[in-house]
Amino acid sequence: MIIAVDGPSGSGKSSTARGVATRLGLRYLDTGAMYRAVTWSALEHGLDLDDTEAVAERARQVELSISTDAQHARFTADGTDVTEAIRDPRISASVSKIATNLAVREELIRRQRAIIDEAVDDTGGIVVEGRDIATVVATHAELKVLLTADQDARMERRKAELAEGAVTAEQLRDQIVRRDADDATVSEFQVASDGAVTVDSTHLSLEEVIDVISRLAKEAEAAP
Ligand code: DC
Repeated sequence: MIIAVDGPSGSGKSSTARGVATRLGLRYLDTGAMYRAVTWSALEHGLDLDDTEAVAERARQVELSISTDAQHARFTADGTDVTEAIRDPRISASVSKIATNLAVREELIRRQRAIIDEAVDDTGGIVVEGRDIATVVATHAELKVLLTADQDARMERRKAELAEGAVTAEQLRDQIVRRDADDATVSEFQVASDGAVTVDSTHLSLEEVIDVISRLAKEAEAAP
């Protein structure tokens, strides 16, 4: 079974997708992290991110190793563990340039499909989060979720995270800048695809969203 979870940053997509994978015993893939890892590699190689051909070649060359364990999702790029480095504001500020490079997208979509196929063959299923999973990467997903939350709810969640010390003011500022960049570049991917269910998390807790999606997954699995 493939569960696609698409949505804008700040919609709670990552925590939700990881939670659903853990609850249902499925693998987990964060496709945004792959765009981030290519960004990291391009910067490491001192590339001009506007040089679309050089960046595309880097995307084809970089060796990415991706753990699809929802509890311990780790990424290495050319042998370096970049799990934390790819969350750096420096990467967040540049990643939309990489994500709008069509040759990079082509390469990463190819790799994403290979990871999904392997997970389905080996373990029976995977939860994949991103922006274009239901519309492009895995149009055959058994369950397609478009996760949304209104802007006020997203701001309130961020403020609560800040108060709890879960994020720093710098990370918060970074998330907001990143969300604006994302909205400007990839919003065309966040349209509801055929058969997608929109889950509005505005008035739901994380556990409640995981409950809703897990129930939908069980229904999808039972469907003929
Ligand atoms: O989900 P995230 O913020 O980590 O995503 C990082 C960037 O990659 C962001 O600019 C959106 C983009 N992205 C994309 O274009 N397609 C995806 N499937 C996932 C992320």
